[in-house]
Amino acid sequence: MASLKTVLYLGVCLSVWISTTADMSDLPKAENVHWVSLDFKTILTWTVPQSNHTYTVMYSEDGNDWTESPDCIRVSQPECDLSSHLEPFDRTYSADILTEPATMDIDYGLEDVPHTYSPRFNPYRESNISAVKFTVEAVDDGRIIVNITDPLTSVHRRGKQLSIRDILKNDLKYKISYYKSGSTGKRDFISNSSTAELSKLDPGQSYCFMVAAFIPSRPKATQQGAWSVQRCTQGNHTVVEELSTGAWVGVVFILLIVLIIIVTVTVLCCRCCQQRNKSLHSSQSSAPI
Ligand SMILES: *[C@@H]1O[C@H](CO)[C@@H](O)[C@H](O)[C@H]1NC(C)=O
Ligand SMILES: *[C@@H]1O[C@H](CO)[C@@H](O)[C@H](O)[C@H]1NC(C)=O
Repeated sequence: MASLKTVLYLGVCLSVWISTTADMSDLPKAENVHWVSLDFKTILTWTVPQSNHTYTVMYSEDGNDWTESPDCIRVSQPECDLSSHLEPFDRTYSADILTEPATMDIDYGLEDVPHTYSPRFNPYRESNISAVKFTVEAVDDGRIIVNITDPLTSVHRRGKQLSIRDILKNDLKYKISYYKSGSTGKRDFISNSSTAELSKLDPGQSYCFMVAAFIPSRPKATQQGAWSVQRCTQGNHTVVEELSTGAWVGVVFILLIVLIIIVTVTVLCCRCCQQRNKSLHSSQSSAPI
């Protein structure tokens, strides 16, 4: 009898085990896992084959223990902001996305749960840098100051929002690409600081500038940030060149009116003259009679 009980128990255990493992293998894994990172705001994204599951994200600095991301436990949206956990910045991190079983009453080990590893990611070397804002100011003939505003990150320290300069320090340079208005030859200038002085420019000429963050210590693919919009300086133009379209319309309008007046006056005068001539003629021709 005892042996029958044991067999029964075994059978029950086996079927429970089979059903749980079957449950587990039915769970969909996260797919297309990748990192999206801009100015050190780093988000892990993935796609889900079915939407009615939740996911938990673990992360680890290379070779160290896995930690659960406190903000990404049993989340249903397929993304997780890991910005505040990936520090120090210049390390390589991995994440692991676990698909959670719908029912928690089955005691399962983490190793049984379907999961997907992310690619490895180093924020310091791989975070994209956004387009910068800058101003250009002529100091004197042939010299221009380019003043660049370092983009802000989402990282805070002691109540202060850090800029990319606070994180990249001396590794951050800026590439300034510029050309003389009307010419096609572009020149590049690499600036170590956020304020750059360009000299030996042709006096009185208009120049156009574009700026991008440039981090030569990084791998080639991630060295350069996005290009800024273009900004141009005013050259020393004559007054005629500087007139706006509106002013030009005004000038043409006035010229037209002056022309009309001249034409009208001329025509009227001619008529007058002709009439006077005629009357003169008629008086002359009538004289002999
Ligand atoms: C950085 O930007 C490039 C080009 O837009 C993109 O292909 C890449 O995935 C981005 N990398 C990260 C980590 O966001
Ligand atoms: C650069 O611009 C910032 C603000 O945009 C300003 O505070 C700073 O004085 C400027 N620096 C120079 C050298 O013009």
